Amino acid sequence: MYSNATETISSELHQVDEKILEILSKNQNILTQNFISYILTGSKKIRSTISILSVKALNESFSSKQASICAISEIIHNASLIHDDIIDNSEQRRGKPSFNNIFGNSAAVLSGDFLISVVLKELLSLNNQTILKRYIETFSTLCAGEINQLGEKNKIISVDEYIEKTERKTAELFKTTLFSTFYTENLYENITFAENFAKNFGIAFQIRDDILDITQKSTGKPVLSDLNNGIYTLPVIIFAEEKNITNPQKINLSDLQNSCAISKAVDLCAKYANRALDLLEHFSDNQYAKALKNLCEELKRI
Ligand code: FPP
Ligand code: MG
Repeated sequence: MYSNATETISSELHQVDEKILEILSKNQNILTQNFISYILTGSKKIRSTISILSVKALNESFSSKQASICAISEIIHNASLIHDDIIDNSEQRRGKPSFNNIFGNSAAVLSGDFLISVVLKELLSLNNQTILKRYIETFSTLCAGEINQLGEKNKIISVDEYIEKTERKTAELFKTTLFSTFYTENLYENITFAENFAKNFGIAFQIRDDILDITQKSTGKPVLSDLNNGIYTLPVIIFAEEKNITNPQKINLSDLQNSCAISKAVDLCAKYANRALDLLEHFSDNQYAKALKNLCEELKRI
């Protein structure tokens, strides 16, 4: 996924990588090299990809300030994954041993906290109260989403509650990245469309990830991790609702995999990807807008 989209913006993605490197290098500790390889080599940088493409779909050039915003979001995303793997007790991330697996939980907690402190310094240096406030709100939203998810462990939530949770834990950072990328260069006119695009793209992105966790197509992390951790994602929620199941731990995996719950989850993913596609009508029809359209289409291919 994403190969065609990233080819057209390889120099801008390189600019983001350089910023990440610069930010991490001026905040050294003994794990710095590990942070660099974790963030630079493993990540798909999807938040940066859609931000860069959106800016260029408006026929604007991608600036150094915008590269800083993308770098900040990538560092936050990776910090949240380091923490997420501790919470999920996950041994793998992106096909490699997770941070907690290599360094232990204590170092992993501190690493996530450290990366957030680095990002806060960088945000302060941007000297933009609106963007700073927006990211701080995002930290709260992400953490509150995860705290609520802990409270919902082993419970079957409704589809609406699942979507609401997904908006908080995944779509929020997509939205903030797009908002800030536009805001930092005063591109106010299209900011609402960009945020709405990011929200719908983010929701579809998370639904796709959750479906792949059940269908066991490789995502570089242990399959069924959510189900085994008592976190019931969309396919399980739909299946349990249809079959009146109260204890999902008793679900037979191949029954679930062969059920229409999977195709219904794919349909819901497509609904959000299509909403994102509709919003692209507000952008021009250049190669970058086409790359964004292709990304939305790819979200539907599960
Ligand atoms: C991955 O979801 C996790 C998130 C999208 C958010 C995690 C947020 C926190 C742990 C809060 C802490 C935040 C900061 C900023 C340090 P997933 O578990 O569905 O994805 P996965 O299958 O890739 O693990
Ligand atoms: Mg996880």
